Amino acid sequence: MSKLPDSVLSCTDVNGDLLSDGVLRYAFHQLLGNNGYVHVVNVPKSFDHVAFLKELGDFQPTPTGTVVGDLKPEADMDDTYHAQNRKSLLPHSEGYEFRGVPPRYLGLWCVTPASGEGGETTMLDGNQILDEFTEEERQRLFDTAYEWKSTEGLSRRGVDVRVEHPVLENRKGGRVFRFSYNNMIVPEGDELAARLCERGKEIYDENHIAVSYEQRDLIVWDNWRMLHSRNAFEDPSRHLKRVQIAAPIDA
Ligand SMILES: [Fe+2]
Repeated sequence: MSKLPDSVLSCTDVNGDLLSDGVLRYAFHQLLGNNGYVHVVNVPKSFDHVAFLKELGDFQPTPTGTVVGDLKPEADMDDTYHAQNRKSLLPHSEGYEFRGVPPRYLGLWCVTPASGEGGETTMLDGNQILDEFTEEERQRLFDTAYEWKSTEGLSRRGVDVRVEHPVLENRKGGRVFRFSYNNMIVPEGDELAARLCERGKEIYDENHIAVSYEQRDLIVWDNWRMLHSRNAFEDPSRHLKRVQIAAPIDA
């Protein structure tokens, strides 16, 4: 099993000149489609992240109602499992606890990189996990509804959700893979679900890629295909921006 290919896109060419809008967009879509994610680097100050990401679709608010979110450590959250603290997270797809279809793409860009160790966004192609399961097992992951809960951190912010979805679902535009190591409720005696979580985490830990940020770097990934997580960090000034891009309304 191999790691993902590098999927880095520089906004500048070998001479340091900015790529044209057309070339940048073409390369971006090729990399996103082929590899499931793109890491855009050498981003000029004039780059409008919000406008660029809007071309991919409508922004979908988070459970707390934020459209363009700030990922900054919140002081009272270091003792729980929550995106807005400095601890590591566990592998997941975004929006497994949402009603309906999860966001198609996620975009993160860097306002202030973490100084010192850590803070990388990590990712893995979910197909690397699903390939380990037989056709018959994958069919059961389409056919069985599981219960999913929101994170402890969100519960503390008043968002407490429980929904039922299968792990795999076919939608217009592709297959959705939902995954959460700690927030999918594994029913007693369900060997397949237990193995999916455990093997999923092992494969993730062995094979994920880790993206470090420079200022203005942008990462976009296909959330129906990729899992993501984060390494722990120390620097309280680390600051990312986040948007979720909705699937088309008829998906
Ligand atoms: Fe996430």
